Amino acid sequence: MSSRVFLFVLGSSRSSGNTEILARKAAEQLPGDVRQRWLHLADHPLPDFEDLRHDSDHVRPTGDNVELLLDATLEATDIVIASPLYWYSVSAHTKRYLDHWSGWLRMSGLDFRARMAGRTLWGVTALAEEEQEVADPLIGTLNNSAAYLGMRFGGVLLGNGSKPGDVLNDEKALARAKTFFAQEPPLARYPHEAA
Ligand SMILES: Cc1cc2nc3c(=O)[nH]c(=O)nc-3n(C[C@H](O)[C@H](O)[C@H](O)COP(=O)(O)O)c2cc1C
Repeated sequence: MSSRVFLFVLGSSRSSGNTEILARKAAEQLPGDVRQRWLHLADHPLPDFEDLRHDSDHVRPTGDNVELLLDATLEATDIVIASPLYWYSVSAHTKRYLDHWSGWLRMSGLDFRARMAGRTLWGVTALAEEEQEVADPLIGTLNNSAAYLGMRFGGVLLGNGSKPGDVLNDEKALARAKTFFAQEPPLARYPHEAA
């Protein structure tokens, strides 16, 4: 039995969109003994992040969506940010989830940074434009966030599409999905650290 647990954090503002379709195509290739958990951020709305870092300790949440997302994050060996490309970056749902990581980093007794170190962050995104370079800000956000936490980074699986289902016509993306999670991702490095 594999000890790996993949958490798919779905950041689209609609269900069953291109990002989720592509993420599910990649997930189909995971071995059967790898646990998968899928959470739509829109179904578990997080409050706006309040920055208390320099005033007081962030208190561990109880009985709300922040606790649900925190527990799911801590349980996962692999976190897959499946966010559509919105204004060249991650969606607002996704960004709010990442902002909460800053609170978790300051939660006393949690050791969030130490616990995340060595785990793997992956990305899946769909975008309407054909030129994939326009997704570089999203890729940079995820790469640098992984580097900040000492995580591994598996890269971003990109697919093209506008209306739901379009990504099924992107043969390159579907081919890449087949092996995406099979890689052994390296520790993330900031661009200024890369040789
Ligand atoms: C708020 C918003 C912003 C978007 N911004 C971009 C963008 O910057 N570049 C792009 O190529 N497509 C953009 N799109 C198109 C979506 O990325 C595209 O429709 C994608 O398939 C949506 O993913 P989903 O089907 O998983 O929801 C945007 C769509 C929305 C709703």
